[in-house]
Amino acid sequence: APLYAVVPAAGVGKRMGADRPKQYLLLNDRTILSHTLSVLLSHPRIHQVIVALGPEDGYFDSLEEASHPRLIRVDGGRERSDSVRLALAAIEDKAAWALVHDAARPCLHHDDIDRLLAFPGDQGAILASPVRDTMKRAGADGTIDHTVPREALWHALTPQLFPAEALHQALVRGEQAGAVITDEASAMEREGWHPALVAGRPDNIKITHPDDLRLAQLYLASREA
Ligand code: C5P
Repeated sequence: APLYAVVPAAGVGKRMGADRPKQYLLLNDRTILSHTLSVLLSHPRIHQVIVALGPEDGYFDSLEEASHPRLIRVDGGRERSDSVRLALAAIEDKAAWALVHDAARPCLHHDDIDRLLAFPGDQGAILASPVRDTMKRAGADGTIDHTVPREALWHALTPQLFPAEALHQALVRGEQAGAVITDEASAMEREGWHPALVAGRPDNIKITHPDDLRLAQLYLASREA
C-alpha cells in the first residue's frame, strides 16, 4: 500500500515566544520545517508528503522544499487534530497508510521511520519512549496525591502510523464526540484499536521551548560531524 507522510504545521507555537511560528525558526542553516520535510521526502518508502499550513502562513513559499514535486500543501485547522484530518482528506487512495509527524520534530532519523514501518501486529503503531522519571499525580491543591507506577508508562512521540482512511474516520468521530485528541493513537484507541509502541531514538525531541532549539542544534550538528 502507498505510504503518505502527513505533517501538521499549522500551529503558532505560542510557548516559544518568537516573532514567527516556531516551525519557521532557524535550526543551524535551515528552518525547522525544512529539516522535517527533507527527512520525510528523502525516505524511499514515502510516496508523498502532505503538509497542513496555517491560513495566514507567509513563510512556506520561501522554503526549498515548497516546490518539491512530491509535496502537497493543504490548509490546516484550529487544533492539531483538525490539521491532520484536513491533510488526510487529500489522500484519494483508500488503501493508503499515513505516517503522521509533527513539523516541530526536525531531528527525526530514517532509522526511526524504518523501525516504525516494521511494527508488530496489525493495529498501527507509534514511536514512543519509556518514562524515566518517577511520576506523580497531583491533587487539586498542587500537592502529591499519589505516585503512578512508571513501568507501564510511555511518552507518545511521532511519527504515528495508521491506515489513512481508518484514521480519518476516527478523527471525524472523535471530534463529533468532543473528545480531546492530542495524537493520532488517542483517536484510534477510542475506536478500540491497540496500536503498537515502538521505542524511538531519544533525539527525536519536539521543539516547544527555546531550550529545545539549542538541544536540537546540538543533535543535528553532531550528526553532520
Ligand atoms: O504546539 P504543539 O507543539 O503541540 O504542536 C504540534 C504540531 O501540530 C506542530 O507541528 C504544529 O505546527 C501542529 N499544529 C497544527 N495545527 C494546529 C495546531 C498545531 O498543525 N491548529
